[in-house]
Amino acid sequence: MDKKMIECRDVVYKYEDSNEGTYKLAIDNVSIDIEKGEFVVILGRNGSGKSTIAKHMNALIIPTEGKVYVDGMDTSLQENVWNIRNNAGMVFQNPDNQIVATIVEEDVAFGPENLGIEPNEIRRRVDDSLKRVNMDEYKKHAPHLLSGGQKQRVAIAGVLAMMPKCIIFDEPTAMLDPSGRKEVIRTIRELNKKYGITIVLITHYMEEAVKADRIVVMDTGKVVIEGSPREIFSNVGTMKEIGLDVPQVTELAYELQKEGIDITSDILTIDEMVDALCRLK
Ligand SMILES: Nc1ncnc2c1ncn2[C@@H]1O[C@H](COP(=O)(O)OP(=O)(O)OP(=O)(O)O)[C@@H](O)[C@H]1O
Ligand SMILES: [Mg+2]
Repeated sequence: MDKKMIECRDVVYKYEDSNEGTYKLAIDNVSIDIEKGEFVVILGRNGSGKSTIAKHMNALIIPTEGKVYVDGMDTSLQENVWNIRNNAGMVFQNPDNQIVATIVEEDVAFGPENLGIEPNEIRRRVDDSLKRVNMDEYKKHAPHLLSGGQKQRVAIAGVLAMMPKCIIFDEPTAMLDPSGRKEVIRTIRELNKKYGITIVLITHYMEEAVKADRIVVMDTGKVVIEGSPREIFSNVGTMKEIGLDVPQVTELAYELQKEGIDITSDILTIDEMVDALCRLK
């Protein structure tokens, strides 16, 4: 069986400007592979092409040049689109735009209802999905009364009810407060670790990228670096040149090192920092 969940092969994407006959080159020859079961984070400045490449991953847009395959299916073939959308779900920034019903469980049922799935199976999927995001207690509640983090978890349950193999998250925590962000990130990690769902996460929060299997950094429509969180964030200088931050503790280690303190620059967590500081002579 093919181990690749998503393959982007030499993808070029141009947004056409219908008025002036000009175009904007948003994706400039990008190749990215996402393995089944992997947790990949995409980082990049505003306008670097993250959302555009993400939309290729569930056939919301089709490459101008090159190919995208989702679970082996070519996204440019119309007959594959239905299957691709069921295999690769997408979650966006604003939970309010993703919630359609006035009761949580009805909202989660909306997707599978549209697939024509029989009622008993829908019931089972709704209950199961709400449990997976830890929102089953709220199934009879009105979504608009929930917190941002809770709403976003309901939106995630709605995607889970379609039973996708892969979920692409485009800045799912951008509109949430710190506690909502934590809830949502915990949920996303659990979907990956416990249920084996392949995750692509776009974020501007470096702390959210630390636990990824792999980070892909984009700039001006290209992939500029790719590697483990430790590899990526230890390049503090490169990241700064691209206009990106690194996690706060990594930055601190970098500054200490500049001051002549003998500490490694690939520190990612507070625990690692404490360890390193205690080892200083
Ligand atoms: N519908 C559109 N029409 C024309 N140009 C677009 C359109 N959407 C995006 N662009 C341009 O394409 C480039 C990539 O945009 P994209 O939204 O993919 O970036 P991004 O990395 O997701 O940015 P952000 O961090 O702000 O979400 C940008 O220059 C943007 O202005
Ligand atoms: Mg974006």
